[in-house]
Amino acid sequence: MAVFPAFFGLLMAALVTGQSIDITPHEAVRKIGDKLIVLCKVAHPIDSCRIILGDTSYRLIPNNVEGEVVYSGQGLEFGECGALIKNVKEAYNGNISCVLPPATGNIEIQGTMKLFVAKRPGDPQLISPPQPSFLEGEEFRAQCIVPNGRPAAKITWFLGEMQLLRGTHQPVVTSPPGSDLQTVSQNVTLTLTADDAGRTLVCRAEHEALDQPTEAKRQINVRYPPKKLESSTIKIFGLKLGEEGRLNVTVRANPEPSAEWRIGDVTLLAPRSDENAMLAALEPVHLGSGYYNVTLLVSHVTKEAVDRRYQLRVENDLGYEEFTVLISTMDEPPAVGLGAGAIVGIVVAVIILLLAVSMVVFAKATHRWCFAGRSHRTDIPDGADSEAPLPPHDDVKGSENPTHDHGDYIGNGDTKHPEKKPDTAV
Ligand SMILES: *[C@@H]1O[C@H](CO)[C@@H](O)[C@H](O)[C@H]1NC(C)=O
Ligand SMILES: *[C@@H]1O[C@H](CO)[C@@H](O)[C@H](O)[C@H]1NC(C)=O
Ligand SMILES: *[C@@H]1O[C@H](CO)[C@@H](O)[C@H](O)[C@H]1NC(C)=O
Ligand SMILES: *[C@@H]1O[C@H](CO)[C@@H](O)[C@H](O)[C@H]1NC(C)=O
Repeated sequence: MAVFPAFFGLLMAALVTGQSIDITPHEAVRKIGDKLIVLCKVAHPIDSCRIILGDTSYRLIPNNVEGEVVYSGQGLEFGECGALIKNVKEAYNGNISCVLPPATGNIEIQGTMKLFVAKRPGDPQLISPPQPSFLEGEEFRAQCIVPNGRPAAKITWFLGEMQLLRGTHQPVVTSPPGSDLQTVSQNVTLTLTADDAGRTLVCRAEHEALDQPTEAKRQINVRYPPKKLESSTIKIFGLKLGEEGRLNVTVRANPEPSAEWRIGDVTLLAPRSDENAMLAALEPVHLGSGYYNVTLLVSHVTKEAVDRRYQLRVENDLGYEEFTVLISTMDEPPAVGLGAGAIVGIVVAVIILLLAVSMVVFAKATHRWCFAGRSHRTDIPDGADSEAPLPPHDDVKGSENPTHDHGDYIGNGDTKHPEKKPDTAV
């Protein structure tokens, strides 16, 4: 806490010597014709207030509201010297200073702020490799230059709909010697993915002197070999004998792939049908974003058609992918993978079953519960009755009357078995 008094002391010293002017704002951007208020404050009363604007020095007197530049503030007695500039002009671009009498002595003190009179920058230029397309995984570098703005323009990047944040470098602002105009440039580095194919890279410039942001853009074309979206063996269910069958496979590729089907010794390069028009390899249909629907049409599904294997090769100039398609007239089996809930359910069921089985085994081994009743069948003299929770006479009754459903009590189904009942009865 000793820091605060020390700091306060320093501040007081600065104020007492009157060398500190508080000026707000320190920097401002205005368009021609806008107004601007610059306020200078000192901790002592003042008896004059001057503002230097361009190469003109204005003496500001409170209550004098005539002119382009007038006094603004609470009064000289409060140490306030502010200027209301009613109409910002091109000539005002640069430093604006206020000049005030000091607290002591006769050397005037000065505060300075910077005004940018906004000047619209030139159109953005996007500089990127000239080649029309790139390979997946390739690094793509681009530079955007927005020249001669005042102040420098602000650059933002977009790829498709998304604003680019990763891969953007620090913007660099430069000024030609002797000019107050600023040129900003910023680089981006992207590692291209299949999803970037067809996206537009946009460099957007925003500036106070622009009503609408300006943009420079280019489209990015990314090429990649066919990719499979599922396993190489595809089973298509639910075809009907005697009806038309469509064997479709979805692949992703750019550029557009060719599709070649091999069925036994018949080879069909899409789009093409076999001699007797039983099979037709259809031209791949673009579903968007590089996804293609590749289809073989079987005009009549026969038993032989079901037994055949359909080999598909999808190829573009960067590579190929092969598939085996099998068909079936059965319905697709329900969800092949079990959900987490189902697995938990099965585990719980197994545990309950194991518990039940071990309880039964334990009960049987120790002649507990109604197993005592069953035990009389083989070892009546055992004296197990003493442990049985059921009244002994019940057991006797059970043995005397086999039609009495003993199993209702047991609930484990063992003595309920119809095959076993005759044994008990005999
Ligand atoms: C404007 O002010 C800054 C700092 O206050 C100073 O460095 C610069 O030289 C000034 N520019 C002009 C044109 O007076
Ligand atoms: C931006 O890219 C240009 C052209 O590739 C290069 O000359 C410049 O040095 C790069 N600037 C930065 C800051 O990376
Ligand atoms: C075949 O097309 C259907 C309908 O668009 C789609 O649901 C199915 O996933 C496709 N099959 C394959 C193997 O791509
Ligand atoms: C893909 O092709 C199959 C067969 O031609 C068709 O049934 C299916 O609707 C197609 N899928 C899409 C998404 O176009």
